[in-house]
Amino acid sequence: MFKNQQIAKDVYYVGVNDRQKHKFENMLPLPYGVSYNSYLIVDKKTALVDTVDISLGDIFISKIQSQLEGKTLDYLIINHMEPDHSGSMSLLRKYYPEMKIVGNSKTLSMVEGFYGVEENTLEIKDGETLSLGTHKLHFHFTPMVHWPETMMTYDETEKILFSGDAFGCFGTLDGTVLDTELNVDRYWDEMIRYYANIVGKYGSAVQKALKKLTPLDINIICSTHGPVWKEYIAEVVDMYDQLSRYRTQEGVVIVYGSMYGNTELMAETVAQGLAEGGIKNIIIHNVSKSDASDIIRDIFKYRGLIIGSPTYCNELYPEVESLLRKIEIRGVKNHVFGCFGSYTWASAAVKRLTTFVETMKWVSADVTVDEKQGLKTENYNSCLELGRQVAVLAKKTIEEIEHCV
Ligand SMILES: Cc1cc2nc3c(=O)[nH]c(=O)nc-3n(C[C@H](O)[C@H](O)[C@H](O)COP(=O)(O)O)c2cc1C
Ligand SMILES: [Fe+2]
Ligand SMILES: [Fe+2]
Repeated sequence: MFKNQQIAKDVYYVGVNDRQKHKFENMLPLPYGVSYNSYLIVDKKTALVDTVDISLGDIFISKIQSQLEGKTLDYLIINHMEPDHSGSMSLLRKYYPEMKIVGNSKTLSMVEGFYGVEENTLEIKDGETLSLGTHKLHFHFTPMVHWPETMMTYDETEKILFSGDAFGCFGTLDGTVLDTELNVDRYWDEMIRYYANIVGKYGSAVQKALKKLTPLDINIICSTHGPVWKEYIAEVVDMYDQLSRYRTQEGVVIVYGSMYGNTELMAETVAQGLAEGGIKNIIIHNVSKSDASDIIRDIFKYRGLIIGSPTYCNELYPEVESLLRKIEIRGVKNHVFGCFGSYTWASAAVKRLTTFVETMKWVSADVTVDEKQGLKTENYNSCLELGRQVAVLAKKTIEEIEHCV
């Protein structure tokens, strides 16, 4: 019954859209949903590249059956073991018990660990080839993009790179999966949010993978989430290159926490200083209202970050502290920084923010503003100055910033 979309000769899209899940990894909101992409190659031998989340397993199996028209499934190639892709493996084995599970040694040990499967597996080595008849598949290991077993499969015949999560993004595929038939504008920010929150810590692993892929002649990128890239290959590869080198655009993100508005007023004033300094991209996030994944996305996008927090029980406002942890674990590089805070009897927030920037090894403005109770003229002017100073720093090139660190 299903008319699966053809991607290239013998290659069909059999993935699914998830419009039900509220939060990816129970953490990252999905305002536009997400797709789990899976691809079926119908050659002399048949092979499926990755599966889908088990919540949509039934429809996934039906799509495969429609395409195979009674043929058997010879191989399941696993580029990535995270359960949003390996989740339907056990179900699939019930329908195709002869199917061989193809993966590297790390993959196969996870296959056993997660699903108890030890038989009918085929271990492949880095650079090895598997022929399906006409289609010749090459396996390229790309560890830590973003799990240790991650690899990519290159179809030499149709010049397709099955890239796993790399080059993927949130957002369902509505009506078609091809970038040539979609308005792709809505995916760019979701790609940065996906990268920043999920892959963000592994910039150097992504750089290694990109170098390894350079010699390949790629006509199509089939990732596990979001559109199939044909027209925008250069753009998505460039975006991954920039993001994984922590290269940012000119602009400043201000994140603040505030219970009663004092720190918030400081944030507004710092923003005015930034604008006076000529910064046009000024993004202000109230840490209690904006989703952390959007804040992390914007931090990966823009060069400057200014954080404001009240002192709370002799520490940072907890929501701000939580954000600092998210930044620290991603090892975000090449940023310029400023901070401010407010307190009533004994200040602690600004000290913690100062320690944070030292840990991150970022360039920091000289001015910090620490206001006791309501904002007064002297500190109001210091907030403007803080904004102006960060504006100067954020206008420096990445090379100048790297040099300052
Ligand atoms: C639960 C709570 C804990 C606080 N703990 C401290 C503290 O340890 N030291 C301090 O100087 N002020 C403390 N304060 C006062 C706030 O830091 C201060 O009023 C600040 O100006 C609040 O900023 P806001 O108006 O942006 O919320 C606390 C306030 C609250 C509500
Ligand atoms: Fe993943
Ligand atoms: Fe994924």
